[in-house]
Amino acid sequence: MDRRSPTTRMHALLESLLAEHQDLRRLVTLLDRQPSLHADAAAPDAGLLVDALFYLTRFPDVTHHALEDRIAERLLARHALDPDLCAEIEAQHARMARQGLDLMRDLEGAMRQESMSSELVTSNIRLYAERLRHNMAFEELALFPAAARSLDDDDWQAIGPRAQRDTPDPLFDSNVQQRFAQLHRAISAESGCGCDLPRT
Ligand SMILES: [Fe+2]
Repeated sequence: MDRRSPTTRMHALLESLLAEHQDLRRLVTLLDRQPSLHADAAAPDAGLLVDALFYLTRFPDVTHHALEDRIAERLLARHALDPDLCAEIEAQHARMARQGLDLMRDLEGAMRQESMSSELVTSNIRLYAERLRHNMAFEELALFPAAARSLDDDDWQAIGPRAQRDTPDPLFDSNVQQRFAQLHRAISAESGCGCDLPRT
């Protein structure tokens, strides 16, 4: 029996966002710990770096962050979230979306040895990953507790239908896209889970 009060019971959407944070942290950890992941076409595992960035910049930006923005806006409308905190979360998402696209362009240039140095691009990618880690911690301290505390069923109904995803997570859901199969195996190996099973 769930002994928590209805006002603090975590909604399924919040639970799924937290599970996605755990997945994203595994990816960020891989970027931190893989010294061979340099933005250099000749470097071992260079393809993993491309896949990791492609995933980070395309999937979380269009699904995960968009849902969090809707939760923040709902909390703001209910006067349950400080406007400065709401603005900061949305600004973090907008900045990561913008910088992610820039990084993809810089990465492609560096791998063709046309523009920025591979060392600088690699450093910028890790900075981007660190910003993502900070964003998740920020949300878990400010956004998720406020949502668990303040949103009722009507709020989640208003948020939920638009939160339904047309496309599953291509890296962590049960059917890993072929493009991300190697990255998925690398994350599983790095996390030492002893398995190659996606999140269910
Ligand atoms: Fe998040």
